[in-house]
Amino acid sequence: MISFFKDNQSSYTVRFESKVEEVHSLFSGKYLETFFLPGVGDQTMLYVGLGDKAPNVITIKELIAKAVKVLKEKNIYEFQLDLFPFIRALGNRAVGIAVEGIYLGDYETPFYGKKERIELKVNLIGIGLLQSEKVREELSKGITLGESIVWARDMVNMPGNKLRPMDFARDIMNKMEDTAVECEVVVYSQLCAMGMRGITSIGCSSDNPPCFMILRYLAAPDKSEITGLVGKGVTCDTGGYCLKAADSMMGIKGDMAGGAAVAGAIYALAKNKVKTNVIGFIPMCENRISSGSLVPGDVITSYSGRTIEICNTDAEGRLILADAVSYAVQRENVTRVLDVATLTGAVVNMFGFSTAGAISDNNDFYHDFEQAFEISGERYYRLPIYEEQERMIESKIADIKNMGESHCGTITAGLFIKAFAEERPWIHLDIAGTAWVDKPVFEYQSKGATGAGVTTLYYLAQP
Ligand code: BES
Ligand code: ZN
Ligand code: ZN
Repeated sequence: MISFFKDNQSSYTVRFESKVEEVHSLFSGKYLETFFLPGVGDQTMLYVGLGDKAPNVITIKELIAKAVKVLKEKNIYEFQLDLFPFIRALGNRAVGIAVEGIYLGDYETPFYGKKERIELKVNLIGIGLLQSEKVREELSKGITLGESIVWARDMVNMPGNKLRPMDFARDIMNKMEDTAVECEVVVYSQLCAMGMRGITSIGCSSDNPPCFMILRYLAAPDKSEITGLVGKGVTCDTGGYCLKAADSMMGIKGDMAGGAAVAGAIYALAKNKVKTNVIGFIPMCENRISSGSLVPGDVITSYSGRTIEICNTDAEGRLILADAVSYAVQRENVTRVLDVATLTGAVVNMFGFSTAGAISDNNDFYHDFEQAFEISGERYYRLPIYEEQERMIESKIADIKNMGESHCGTITAGLFIKAFAEERPWIHLDIAGTAWVDKPVFEYQSKGATGAGVTTLYYLAQP
């Protein structure tokens, strides 16, 4: 819990400084360096170094998160933050970014035992130059985004045995209760009747049944554009019969981070009453071993009618996404579609944990996306797609196969999904590296789930 108070002064003030000779020789102002200095009366200052960096969406969030962490280490839960240097550089926007930074800095990986959480009380100062209406707007936007990222992180961090596919759907449904989002959960028997074999042939590998969640947020009825956001919701990915090695099993509970990103972004849009049309699609399932599980060599018929040769049961994400993307374009008439998934280990080898892979067949749509991640501060890098890579997923016995060759793994995974987007403007995001960090890359992250994708999808869906 975080509350923002005004007027009453706390004895702790955080200031962000680039050069500090006049303050103290023990503090050089190096980026993220911190220094406590007693002031007059009962006042204590915490200086945080900005170094020679310019304030931007990444540095502001890092600096604020650092301040929050250092204060909490000293059991200080009530303080004021001087946002003046950030506001001078970025204007109103800095308030929203700072608030997001407070939420992320305060975030603690859930502990399944007894542990008390103390409420933070934060007073934002140095914002006097701004009109108060705009500040209030930015404040509430920052709060909503902060809450949405924290919620997405919590879902992704949740142990697989505490978040089965149906629990995941219920959690989202409860969260959306007081919003304008209409939730539908297509259950296992319905999926079977509809012929969604991409989802059911993975989902039937477990006694915890699969489901398919649809989140409709249609707040711009005068507009015909609808953005479809499709997120992978594998709550537990053992690999199936192509079983993962023991040392790559940690983190398999995080294979629903794409779904969490979609839910988080739609929640934030609805909470902020953004006038836009978005529909979320989250196929949810486990990938385990049972007598009904797929094995390599099997062939299934997807919802689209296209047949798929199974070459590797650990390439399950693209199968469930294929059905969800088909459903989005055929049944809900989305005018453009984006899918987001922890899809390949190859993207982690390529870009590590700070940058996600992106693929698109439409430059206009991708341009909008670039603008969105410029604002959010997340990193994406666009990969090329060519015919020779498309040929890698041609099958001799079915319309397509679920694995390519030993190279281009991220691209062929994306191209597999493209085959189901029916030429609709399409973007694919592979967040396998960025959704989960064992060692945080940025100061505003903590070990485990990062909430990757929430803010970028939120900005992409702006009217
Ligand atoms: N969920 C994994 C991808 C993954 C790997 C996510 C590492 C997070 C960290 C996905 O289902 C998978 O196993 N992909 C396979 C595909 C391959 C068999 C074609 C992979 O990347 O190894
Ligand atoms: Zn897998
Ligand atoms: Zn997976």
